[in-house]
Amino acid sequence: MANSYIASKISKEQKESRLQQTAKSIWMTGLSGAGKTTLGLALEKELFQRGFFIQLLDGDDVRTGLNRDLTYSEEGRTENIRRIAEVNALYNNSGIITISCFISPTNAIRYMARKIIGPENFIEVFVKAPLSLCEKRDVKGYYLKARQGLIKEFTGIDSPFEEPEHSDLVLETSSDTVEETIQRMIAFILPQIQYNKAKNPQ
Ligand code: ADX
Repeated sequence: MANSYIASKISKEQKESRLQQTAKSIWMTGLSGAGKTTLGLALEKELFQRGFFIQLLDGDDVRTGLNRDLTYSEEGRTENIRRIAEVNALYNNSGIITISCFISPTNAIRYMARKIIGPENFIEVFVKAPLSLCEKRDVKGYYLKARQGLIKEFTGIDSPFEEPEHSDLVLETSSDTVEETIQRMIAFILPQIQYNKAKNPQ
């Protein structure tokens, strides 16, 4: 069970009933440049158009605000994900669906997030693309800088990325088009976030 923040006297189920949805944390993991944010934003838009209430959380944003004090060391990344997982739990307890786009590079880090959020609420999506492709795309120019030694501890270069082995969904962004990938995500996620009246009798 995830943190239930019991100070509130209004239950998660009551809030889900108000919003007519089942609150889940959709957790996008993958290398920088794999397509987490692109797909996360597209998914947010599609779900919002279908009437769902969602909050998107993204590494680049969160690291300029809430987590601006953190580095990219193993400890920094662990604390980054710990805080974000707690934020996810807060949103979920408010009945809100979240989409989180964070590299979350190790099995231990992803396991921690799953545990904090609660396995029953956690949907792990592995946005899979080979390092060579992410490096070729180099959308932010960080891979080149990392190769030149100007950025240290860059994931995939001099900091590890452990491929998840038990993700709920794997999206291969090297072979499939964005449109195909979004359709796959929607088909997988919709049944899990639809409001389940039987589960939440009011
Ligand atoms: S995580 O490893 O702690 O999950 P997070 O997703 O928050 O990482 O942040 C990753 C983003 O920060 C990357 O997409 C990239 O834009 C930027 N970044 C800056 N320095 C690094 C670095 N050393 N390693 C990885 N990403 C970095």
